Amino acid sequence: MESVQAIKQRFGIIGNDPSLNRAIEKAIQVAPTDISVLVTGESGVGKESIPKIIHQLSHRKHGKYIAVNCGAIPEGTIDSELFGHEKGAFTGATQTRSGYFEVADGGTIFLDEVGELPLTTQVRLLRVLENGEFIKVGSSKVQKTNVRIVAATNVNMFEAIKKEKFREDLYYRLSTVEIHLPALRERKDDIHLLFRKFASDFALKYKMPTIKLSDDAVNLLLKYRWSGNIRQLRNVAEQISVLEQNRIISASTLQSYLPNSGSNLPAVINNSKSESDFSNEREILYKVLFDMKSDLNDLKKLTMELMKSGNASEVQKQNEGLIQKIYGDDNSVTEDDVEELEVLSIPEKSSEIQHSSTPEDTQDKYHFAEEIEEEETLSLHDKELELIKKSLERHNGKRKLAAQELGISERTLYRKIKQFDL
Ligand SMILES: Nc1ncnc2c1ncn2[C@@H]1O[C@H](COP(=O)(O)OP(=O)(O)O)[C@@H](O)[C@H]1O
Ligand SMILES: [Mg+2]
Repeated sequence: MESVQAIKQRFGIIGNDPSLNRAIEKAIQVAPTDISVLVTGESGVGKESIPKIIHQLSHRKHGKYIAVNCGAIPEGTIDSELFGHEKGAFTGATQTRSGYFEVADGGTIFLDEVGELPLTTQVRLLRVLENGEFIKVGSSKVQKTNVRIVAATNVNMFEAIKKEKFREDLYYRLSTVEIHLPALRERKDDIHLLFRKFASDFALKYKMPTIKLSDDAVNLLLKYRWSGNIRQLRNVAEQISVLEQNRIISASTLQSYLPNSGSNLPAVINNSKSESDFSNEREILYKVLFDMKSDLNDLKKLTMELMKSGNASEVQKQNEGLIQKIYGDDNSVTEDDVEELEVLSIPEKSSEIQHSSTPEDTQDKYHFAEEIEEEETLSLHDKELELIKKSLERHNGKRKLAAQELGISERTLYRKIKQFDL
């Protein structure tokens, strides 16, 4: 059996803290079996090395190793990614596709951020863990696979189970052996060691002398909270290595690279993600798109009114609400702004604009724009619907809270609920 030291060297793991050594030792011990392992620990503590060690030291090392970030795959496609799909299972499924569980047969799958898996996928995962069986999306044929699972999470799984976001039976099945990686602030002796290692790596990389911390800077380094753990420490070492002319780093220089370093007091950390945050980047993007689309529609309406009436201040008076909605409270629209709008939207009245684009051009541009809109509208509608549904679910149907979260008025939300027949 390889020693902990040899493994650390082989996988580039720095540190001598007993809890880190214990975690590696556990990984070495469990590797030759097929036992499922759950790696826990905050973000940036180095969880990703553990499944690699386990795979490499197992009889599966010549099989495939697939790492899947469960939090990064949209809910709608995750089942198909993991288990594959049949041709025609959904729009766009033009061919039968194998999922990771089929591809990794005989190997290891690392399910990172497993706490983010949707409940329906958790059911499928439990089945494959229990008897190696799975079914492709859109199929009825049961398939077999032989895959070893290592999962990781940075969320409190008990909390997730209590909130019914994670199945208790799956948790116990996944965590037959649990390997916990300590936060960096709990490994005080390793902090400076890691910093020195990163500083020396970046000095080589950027061909500059190695930075060195003064004594008071070392003290600050040890006192700091490092909520981003080793990932954050590495980033800070890189930034300082690149940016600082003076290679002796004082505490005040270091401090300027540490966000909130004033609050070294034990902070209350909010482990659970806020219920209402749009944790999924896609959701945020869709929300931005809806907002833009809604603004665009409002602007179209305003432009049309202006073109029809030709009287800017009248239009402004009549559309006060709309203008307020588009430009917000802070940037109240002045007469000038509206006049500017008028000039831009009515080419006939502006010789400058008329010269810059011929009527054919204009037509072409609109034609193009319409084509895009047609394609996007459908999926946007679906996504908007999904977003509203989710928000309502999150707030137990309370429209006021959902509207606040979605950044729309209660009335607009009500209109959408009617429109989508929710
Ligand atoms: N003990 C360590 N020694 C050296 N680098 C480490 C160590 N632990 C983590 N890292 C580095 O820190 C970064 C974050 O590690 P990662 O495994 O992605 O964290 P996690 O998955 O827990 O968020 C990576 O760049 C990794 O190489
Ligand atoms: Mg990670």
